[in-house]
Amino acid sequence: MPRQLIAGNWKMNGLSVAGTRLAGALREAVATAPPPCDLLVCPPFTLVGRLAHVLLGSGVAVGGQDCHAEAAGAHTGDVSAPMLRDAGATAVILGHSERRAGHGETDGQVRAKAAAALAAGLAPIVCVGETLAEREAGRQEAVVAAQLAGSLPDGFAVAGAVAYEPVWAIGTGKTPTETEIAAMHAMIRRTLAARFGTAGESVRILYGGSVKPSNAKAILALPEVGGALVGGASLVAEDFLAIAAAARA
Ligand code: PGA
Repeated sequence: MPRQLIAGNWKMNGLSVAGTRLAGALREAVATAPPPCDLLVCPPFTLVGRLAHVLLGSGVAVGGQDCHAEAAGAHTGDVSAPMLRDAGATAVILGHSERRAGHGETDGQVRAKAAAALAAGLAPIVCVGETLAEREAGRQEAVVAAQLAGSLPDGFAVAGAVAYEPVWAIGTGKTPTETEIAAMHAMIRRTLAARFGTAGESVRILYGGSVKPSNAKAILALPEVGGALVGGASLVAEDFLAIAAAARA
């Protein structure tokens, strides 16, 4: 199994001074106390290049939060996977529920974006997760299985990661029980292994949704949890570092 990955999703937060300061704090901290995991920060597009520069050689990788499925062309306002790679990113979050809900992104679009990321040398982190209504109806596993089937391109297991993020746990302070997380991660592992064979057995499956220093250790200790995708707590250096320190060694 690869080391756990703790990835920070800054969402639409971070101007240059504060973002550079946060990245600098991470750089200093990992230099003195290397965490037992891989670290990734995903700032807004505007800071990808700057953070790649600040974090160069630190061991903290930089990623995007979305990319277009095409490499270049007439797509006003969009950013392509080769552009992210060119700016210094090595990964990209795709299909986050805020993009699925706010921009109507479909599984097919996420799949095309993930294929573009792989082609550009970026590691796609594909997000899946059910809504509260879907969980209350007992449909969570069917929903996530359908998202996986539709959102993961062929060849995904070579470099990709999956993030299980129940929509109702994002930014709410609520999390599923440990049993619920373990059950979903086991289902995702079975699905990946069935589709991608042995390569699917080492794909990291991150948990995301209200991960914080107080719950990180218990979540990261669960079987098949390969790391965490952290939103709000990734904006505070000491919280993000405390979550990283809680990773399974
Ligand atoms: P949260 O966000 O940690 O603030 O709940 C997680 C995410 O949306 O990736």
